[in-house]
Amino acid sequence: MLRRLHPDQPESFAFTPDNLAWAEGQITKYPEGRQASAIIPLLWRAQEQEGWLSKPAIETVADMLGLSYIRALEVATFYFMFQLQPVGKIAHIQVCGTTSCMICGAEDLVAVCKEKIAPEPHALSADGNFSWEEVECLGSCSNAPMAQIGKDYYEDLTAERMGEIIDELAAGKVPVPGPQNGRYAAEPLKGLTSLTEYDSGKTQYNASVQLAVDIGDTVKRIDGTEVPLVMPWQGKAANVAEAPPRNVRPADGVPADATGITEQQAQAASKAKPPSKSDPADAVAAPVGEKPATLEAAREGGPDDLKQIKGVGPKLEKLLHSLGFFHFDQVAAWTDAEVAWVDENLEGFKGRVSRDNWVQQARDLAQDTAT
Ligand code: FES
Repeated sequence: MLRRLHPDQPESFAFTPDNLAWAEGQITKYPEGRQASAIIPLLWRAQEQEGWLSKPAIETVADMLGLSYIRALEVATFYFMFQLQPVGKIAHIQVCGTTSCMICGAEDLVAVCKEKIAPEPHALSADGNFSWEEVECLGSCSNAPMAQIGKDYYEDLTAERMGEIIDELAAGKVPVPGPQNGRYAAEPLKGLTSLTEYDSGKTQYNASVQLAVDIGDTVKRIDGTEVPLVMPWQGKAANVAEAPPRNVRPADGVPADATGITEQQAQAASKAKPPSKSDPADAVAAPVGEKPATLEAAREGGPDDLKQIKGVGPKLEKLLHSLGFFHFDQVAAWTDAEVAWVDENLEGFKGRVSRDNWVQQARDLAQDTAT
């Protein structure tokens, strides 16, 4: 297949601030003079942010690495994982067409994509929401036929289920990935016949699916706020996400952050003079937003199933409980300042509340529960 840049290109490209911090962090992995080695992760993050790689994105990455544009273009056009044309706003579907999947019905899945999305691969659907392509073996042959959608694998597919998944995604839902025929993982369809003792104590879904559900990023674009940026190869956390939670005050005399300044010293300094960006004492972050009212425990009748809020998985639900939030009406009542506080204090999931509009979702769910 001839891989060329798309004829319609955007004017420019810029990483989001968090993605830029991440990209600059990746470059520091490599010794002086070898920064070009960071090209694949940087191109990949640009694609995760935009869905595809435009010419300005490739050139931006080349500039960051001190590479001539042709070197970056060579990489981007060589690897099929880089999309050189716009992909569906909701999802780009990659149907495996290699042996196991082909034998088990990949052609039927392709037919569904042709009918529901576009007759040709790499073309956008009429509403711009979907695109598809056939790819080579994705390593999930024992769950054939399968397709990768966003970051996750949908396995043991039928044409009917493929169509339903596209419809569910179009309706704003994210279907649970993994086997779609009731299998837990890749065991026999009728259940385990050996090693049955390992069947106990398992999580609701197999490890990959459980992680996918917990993270909930399946088809989302990545803006860098999803996961705290850490740079263990430098022996330290790289950004504020690794600092103590803002509602936990460091003890007297204990440095508040990597500047080595204690909170008490910072407060004394800020009272004595106007803040200055160059002074590390002023680098102690001010609390963000307002803490909403919390509960010690769920009310009588037990907590609401907060996982019904799109983007909340079991881990986030647990975190919300630990912060004192158990019910839809609590979330529904958050003001903008309170949303900012919760967004800031969801360690590992910062920004999720506003990104997925939990407040509106919780209002709808609270209303459903009341009726
Ligand atoms: S043949 Fe489809 S995943 Fe391997």
